[in-house]
Amino acid sequence: MSDLLLETRQLRKSFGGLHVTRDINLVLRAGDKVGLIGPNGAGKTTLINLITGVLAPSAGAVHLGGEDVSALSQAQRVKRGLVRTFQITQLAPTLPVRLQVEMAIHERQGTVGGFWKPRSSYSAVQDESQAILQSLRMAGLAARAPVELAYGEQRLVEIALAMALRPRVLLLDEPMAGVPSGEGQVVLDALATLPADLAILMIEHDMDLVFNFADRMMVLAEGAVLAEGSPAEIRRHPAVRAAYLGEEG
Ligand SMILES: Nc1ncnc2c1ncn2[C@@H]1O[C@H](COP(=O)(O)OP(=O)(O)OP(=O)(O)O)[C@@H](O)[C@H]1O
Ligand SMILES: [Mg+2]
Repeated sequence: MSDLLLETRQLRKSFGGLHVTRDINLVLRAGDKVGLIGPNGAGKTTLINLITGVLAPSAGAVHLGGEDVSALSQAQRVKRGLVRTFQITQLAPTLPVRLQVEMAIHERQGTVGGFWKPRSSYSAVQDESQAILQSLRMAGLAARAPVELAYGEQRLVEIALAMALRPRVLLLDEPMAGVPSGEGQVVLDALATLPADLAILMIEHDMDLVFNFADRMMVLAEGAVLAEGSPAEIRRHPAVRAAYLGEEG
């Protein structure tokens, strides 16, 4: 189908004898909101590292918009609309948010350090930065630096930086990590403002939040797909309850 954005085919990764990713087939179409869960060490972050090109697979392939991108660099994949955020925050702590978003836009445009550019293109970048922050309801944070922000606000900045790269597929590795419980909804509210055709894969340990967010779930255990389905199906899936949710389910 034409709206198929991301596809992993029999993706596999081993570190020595440790099989961390076992033949994963994952498909994301325009507008998909997929939750990826699984116990610590299940291979969730490794899967994102394989998709984005941080790691080379031991076998299998990654396709983006119908193109095999398995041999492409991280940057080349970003140019094709594949953008991620990290489990551990990667912000410049003291640089104003507005400037960090502007830098991400320049990075996308390949205009980093382009001092010879006409002034008008700078104001276009400033306008775009402002528009991104406004759409995420973060205009009030524009002049502040991450060190001054609450952790939940910092995670929003990371999403703003990702959006500055104009993703078609957004991979979020625990976007609510470190956010006090009860404030995770702020991140979900911000995600709800993003374009409807953006495909999002979210790794998240907070079951209530990820079940709320996703219209489809994938469960990993020991590197393999344990279950796939709607949030309701996954909630009552016996193997998932046994392996992951435990008594909590
Ligand atoms: N570079 C590496 N070399 C060796 N083993 C690795 C490497 N990276 C990850 N692993 C191992 O692969 C397994 C999966 O790790 P991964 O970080 O993908 O798990 P995860 O599902 O993201 O876990 P968490 O929920 O704790 O973030 C773990 O056993 C980890 O120790
Ligand atoms: Mg992880």
